[in-house]
Amino acid sequence: MSDFDNRAKTWDTQQKLDRVKSIAACMRDNVDFSDVQIALEYGCGTGLLSFELSDDLPRVVLADSSPGMLEVAKTKIAETGAAHFHTELLDLTTTPPAEQSYDLIYTLLTLHHIPDTQPILGAFHEMLNSGGTLVIVDLDAEDGSFHGPHIDVHHGFDRNAIKQMLLEVGFNRVNITNCYQLTRECRNYSLFLASAEK
Ligand SMILES: C[S@@+](CC[C@H](N)C(=O)[O-])C[C@H]1O[C@@H](n2cnc3c(N)ncnc32)[C@H](O)[C@@H]1O
Repeated sequence: MSDFDNRAKTWDTQQKLDRVKSIAACMRDNVDFSDVQIALEYGCGTGLLSFELSDDLPRVVLADSSPGMLEVAKTKIAETGAAHFHTELLDLTTTPPAEQSYDLIYTLLTLHHIPDTQPILGAFHEMLNSGGTLVIVDLDAEDGSFHGPHIDVHHGFDRNAIKQMLLEVGFNRVNITNCYQLTRECRNYSLFLASAEK
């Protein structure tokens, strides 16, 4: 059982709900949802961001590698009657992209948990329809204090490095902007929103 499985039942807090409200607003400001028929949230956790975007998107696949997180997401789908939401157990670091393709892929605070960034960006590119959009919201480069020394994750990302990788895997119209300021244990961490088109 992963750490995320263990944390799933207590994942949703008021602080995280407030956070996704702001992040959803930032997405609406930066991304045109009008042509999106089907979207994928990768690393959805309990689906907090997708539930916030529920009225903006006609069909959403909530994907995560944590069965525990997806169980909570499924319960929320059943409770809210969000019939346009589906869940999928998916780890693109071990499984190649499936046949299904998407008009929009978005991912929040997940990329820094994935050791090899460029291959996952390549997988997102493969899974998008032509003209589709990728949206990444994640930490700007930080000093490692966000997770502390015992968890081996990326210490955020350098915006230029992310932009370069997105271009290298075939994306164009890459745009990176400020999205949110997250406070953890009295320290502030900035989140960027990167959007890119296939
Ligand atoms: C920090 S949590 C963010 C969850 C959610 N996006 C949110 O903001 O509430 C990171 C999520 O990424 C998922 N995750 C980590 N590695 C993954 C991978 N290789 N493939 C899919 N999901 C992954 C975890 O299970 C977890 O749900």
